[in-house]
Amino acid sequence: MANAPVTVTITGAAGNIGYSLLFRIAEGTVFGPDTPVNLRLLEIPPAMNAAKGVAMELADSAFDTLYDVDIFDDANKAFEGANLALLVGAMPRKKGMERADLMEANGGIFGPQGKAINDNAADDVKIVVVGNPANTNALIAANAAPDIPNERFTAMMRLDHTRAISQLAAKVGARNEDIRKMVVWGNHSADQYPDVSYATVGGKPAASLVDESWLSDEFRPRVAKRGAEIIEVRGASSAASAASGAIAQSRDWVQGTPEGDFTTIGLYSDGSHYGVPEGIVFGFPGVAKNGAWEVVDGLKVSAATRAGIDANVKALLEEREIITSLGLL
Ligand code: NAD
Ligand code: LMR
Repeated sequence: MANAPVTVTITGAAGNIGYSLLFRIAEGTVFGPDTPVNLRLLEIPPAMNAAKGVAMELADSAFDTLYDVDIFDDANKAFEGANLALLVGAMPRKKGMERADLMEANGGIFGPQGKAINDNAADDVKIVVVGNPANTNALIAANAAPDIPNERFTAMMRLDHTRAISQLAAKVGARNEDIRKMVVWGNHSADQYPDVSYATVGGKPAASLVDESWLSDEFRPRVAKRGAEIIEVRGASSAASAASGAIAQSRDWVQGTPEGDFTTIGLYSDGSHYGVPEGIVFGFPGVAKNGAWEVVDGLKVSAATRAGIDANVKALLEEREIITSLGLL
């Protein structure tokens, strides 16, 4: 192969999202057909056998781009040399719960993993946090990794982004590929603010094609509560679509976002964008260039968008207070 192998660590590898995610990474979707991948799978001891079974299936697939698969129940070993770390392993919510209800159960996973990444990963490590509540778990992990720049800890908001694109496309009778410049501000929670203010459909402003009552009564609540709707209908939390989101977020980070578009990225706020204070992980409009995310600045913020951003700042500051009181930060 033309390129040197990259190392990808995936936590929760025997879980539902892991089952979809691993095969697509092994097949070259994130790094391309010329870059071999070594996978390091992290699981908890009771799931080690299931992880071994997944590794057997990966071997059976004989992907050209998959060189090695190793399985660990020790985070320090699992993150050794990782160039990309996908933190998926965490409990999913059940019907009737909000994602923030998982803070106590899942928060404790992300400090030790952040430290293990800090101590063992490659210098260029990129981190995508999927386990819920994703934004606040990303904050916990970043805080435990003082040697890694905070902006390398991203929360997965790509699924919210693609949900918003899909709802708008269905409404206006367009293809997903016709839609550009969607953004979902804030938290991967029901507070999120899916925003079509900058979006275009085949080059036309999306806002000229839909009315405000559809946006406020259907689009925004539908996108924000889609995870709960999936749990209700499917009987389990989204998995394959979540894997698609993690793949798309990682692929763009590695290969760059398409010219003339932006996406939504859950990024550690340094306090310099859109009035979002420092020290929370927030969904922003972003582009990836040369392996780094940049917030797209200078978008005109309407009063409604401002209120949406502010509500999310408040919610994320409240989550931060809770994890602080639990001793997780
Ligand atoms: P799952 O229960 O099917 O799998 C989770 C796996 O994680 C299990 O195999 C479990 O053994 C493992 N695990 C638990 N603790 C671990 C630890 N400390 N280290 C390593 N592995 C560990 O759950 P799932 O459906 O794959 O979902 C995983 C997480 O992703 C959940 O928190 C879910 O809410 C979240 N999620 C987030 C998004 C998003 O858009 N950000 C979308 C869907 C799901
Ligand atoms: C989702 O958005 O589908 C996931 O975060 C799972 C959930 O709990 O909603």
